Amino acid sequence: MTILPKFTLDDEEFAGKRVLVTGGTKGAGEAIVQRLSAAGATVLTTARSAIPETLSPQLFVQADVSTLAGAETVAASALERLGGIDIIVHNVGGSKSPGGGFAGLTEQIWQDELSLNLLAAVRLDRLLVPRMIEQGSGTIVHISSIQRRLPLHESTIAYAAAKAALSSYSKALSKELGPQGIRVNTVAPGWIHTTASEAMVKRLAAHSGSDEETARQGIMDALGGIPIGRPAWPQEIAELVAFLVSDRAGAIHGAEYVIDGGTIPTV
Ligand SMILES: NC(=O)c1ccc[n+]([C@@H]2O[C@H](COP(=O)([O-])OP(=O)(O)OC[C@H]3O[C@@H](n4cnc5c(N)ncnc54)[C@H](OP(=O)(O)O)[C@@H]3O)[C@@H](O)[C@H]2O)c1
Repeated sequence: MTILPKFTLDDEEFAGKRVLVTGGTKGAGEAIVQRLSAAGATVLTTARSAIPETLSPQLFVQADVSTLAGAETVAASALERLGGIDIIVHNVGGSKSPGGGFAGLTEQIWQDELSLNLLAAVRLDRLLVPRMIEQGSGTIVHISSIQRRLPLHESTIAYAAAKAALSSYSKALSKELGPQGIRVNTVAPGWIHTTASEAMVKRLAAHSGSDEETARQGIMDALGGIPIGRPAWPQEIAELVAFLVSDRAGAIHGAEYVIDGGTIPTV
């Protein structure tokens, strides 16, 4: 793996900004929380697990945002503890579906994948966007996936369909909210080098009796190849999100930014 490049940042760029990042204790979400906090934002985050030692209890809500009750808890806590909301990064998402194609996906699995990857964002927006409309400003990023354009059929049909719906929903929302001073964009990552994806590499290597580099290459081959030869670092996803929610991206709205090292093979 190539090492992570160094980034420079303006440590006051987001001073005074009140931010919610869902799922900010691992992977891309953790990097987004760290990136925005380092640039001066006050960032509240969520997870189902207990609070990690590194986070302040005032800036963490333990809740399952794939449920309506969880989304309501998080939205109420954000408004109460932050006193309002300027930036929302809907990062929570993922898939736990088994292999076996469409026939392996039960009614419950479809419900779970849609709740986590689509409805969590829809509900939180419904609860929080009215506050942005009142103040006449705000920025929203929905984290989708390249699977919304490049769906894989072995186990992630429901995930890919939910992410496609999320991207479409995000575009529709942008049309309504743009005239009210609120920017809405989508980020569609390809494979990200997270603890979870590295655990998968280790599992595959152990299962096939090969080494981790071979297993990593096997995943890239399954994706049709990653032209830059590696997954993205979570910090690289965070850097793109930080740009999109900043004033530097003031004219970027209703767009989807793919960050996949060239994985999607078409224009
Ligand atoms: N990893 C990839 O290769 C990849 C590729 C394309 C797109 N993406 C997208 O990028 C985003 C981040 O993925 P990631 O791989 O960085 O995630 P991750 O490492 O699995 O971390 C997910 C985070 O969300 C929290 N979380 C999960 N389910 C939750 C729930 N129901 N309610 C509240 N918090 C929850 C997790 O904490 P708890 O487990 O404690 O709840 C954790 O903090 C997702 O939207 C994913 O679909 C990822």
